[in-house]
Amino acid sequence: MRTSAICNQKGGVAKSTTVINMAAILARDYGKRVLVVDGDSQGNLSEFFGADPKNGNLAEVLRHGRDEGLFAIASIQPTNFAGVDILASADDLMDLDLTAAKEDPDKGEILRDMTIKLAELDQYDYILVGCPPAFNAAATAALVAADDVIIPIKLDAFSLRGMANLMRQVSNMRRINPTLRVSGILPTMWYKSSQIMDAEQQLRGSGLPVYPHIRRSDKVDDMTFDQQPLLECSPRSAAGVDYRRFVRQWMGGGADV
Ligand SMILES: Nc1ncnc2c1ncn2[C@@H]1O[C@H](COP(=O)(O)OP(=O)(O)OP(=O)(O)O)[C@@H](O)[C@H]1O
Ligand SMILES: [Mg+2]
Repeated sequence: MRTSAICNQKGGVAKSTTVINMAAILARDYGKRVLVVDGDSQGNLSEFFGADPKNGNLAEVLRHGRDEGLFAIASIQPTNFAGVDILASADDLMDLDLTAAKEDPDKGEILRDMTIKLAELDQYDYILVGCPPAFNAAATAALVAADDVIIPIKLDAFSLRGMANLMRQVSNMRRINPTLRVSGILPTMWYKSSQIMDAEQQLRGSGLPVYPHIRRSDKVDDMTFDQQPLLECSPRSAAGVDYRRFVRQWMGGGADV
């Protein structure tokens, strides 16, 4: 079993889009058993997969005392996509920073307890944790539990100037979990422009592992309306093709440095 966190504290870089399509490709193309953890109070993953927070959610789990992951496992629900289960998010996930998790740092281990127990039970092949655009209690719990992290990034001028910020994020992540591996930076929403291509080249010279990019495609917005992953609603779209290539490489280990 492998647990990967999809994180970037910057918003709107395709974290949720990446989790949705990874989960669908792993389940449908490879027949893998996938658990998605929605670590964001916006609840985009929970909504997409048709989960109801009333049937269990991460906020409750992070507030619960440690019990070898049993409460977390009981909070998992099936989704409308075969092969994919979810631990949903809830609105009040945001409030957690102000309350329980801060008072008791031990609670940051709760997701990790869950992954250890799930590995024992051999219930899933992959756990994908979608992080919020913040470094909060849920993101910390995700990074403590993860074996590796994928960092989606949008190649615009802001992100480029934020390169130092990105490096700082990686070192902060490693402070939280020293054995965490950066599987790779994933450039998303790529399109042909000299500035984007310069930015990509600069990223590739940074010393961090970088995956081949995911192209921009209008079908991604359609996907959110249709509530169907790209492999169902638009498998031949540029992004649909690129996500499959990305997942193949990610399964094989990670990105090239
Ligand atoms: N390859 C792509 N081509 C075109 N649009 C894309 C692509 N990937 C993502 N988008 C669009 O970009 C927007 C942001 O994507 P998404 O919600 O996945 O980002 P996020 O990092 O999860 O955002 P947040 O930080 O708010 O959680 C969405 O409108 C999505 O449809
Ligand atoms: Mg998101």
